[in-house]
Amino acid sequence: MRILAISGSLRATSTNTRLVRTIMHMAPATMEFTLYEGLGDLPHFSPDIDGDHSPSTVLTLRQLLTEADGVLICTPEYAFGVPGVLKNALDWTVSTGDFSGKPTVAISASPLWGGGDKAHASLLLTLQALGAKVPEAGKLSIPQINKKLNPSGEIQDTATAQQLTAVLDALAQTIDNL
Ligand code: FNR
Repeated sequence: MRILAISGSLRATSTNTRLVRTIMHMAPATMEFTLYEGLGDLPHFSPDIDGDHSPSTVLTLRQLLTEADGVLICTPEYAFGVPGVLKNALDWTVSTGDFSGKPTVAISASPLWGGGDKAHASLLLTLQALGAKVPEAGKLSIPQINKKLNPSGEIQDTATAQQLTAVLDALAQTIDNL
């Protein structure tokens, strides 16, 4: 099964992007991951440039989503919300319905105690609006990520490793059950 992985952070040393890469390595061989790296190249969404003449970067995103059997999103929280670049990308998918019925799992990670739970809740609402199929077990907020994921990308906390495995299982099961 093909999975498109999206990190909500553009930061070069992002913990969320590191976490995505770790998850990609943890995943069973049956899950073939592509890491989406075009988030920062998308123009600001406007209905005026949506439609037949959507920019090529947008067409690429839509193509990747169409080809994917499932999506994994891992995001930081900025000012109690989802980073603008991630929301922007999701807004580009409204008109084409790329997330409609798409098995999707949503993770937030933060060095703080909240785990980015407000961004997580907001992301889930947006995914609901888009019609994504998000399994209960595919929703995870990770507090104190800096103590659980080391700079080499190794998970240093058994409970977190188990939670991530459960998220991957939920994604695979949701795809299988389609
Ligand atoms: C943050 N951070 C943050 N963390 C959090 O848990 N809740 C929040 O509301 C915010 N707000 C916020 C705003 C801005 C502008 C920045 C730069 C940071 C801290 C954030 O979780 C931390 O920088 C993470 O390391 C960002 O994720 P990446 O880039 O490491 O994946």
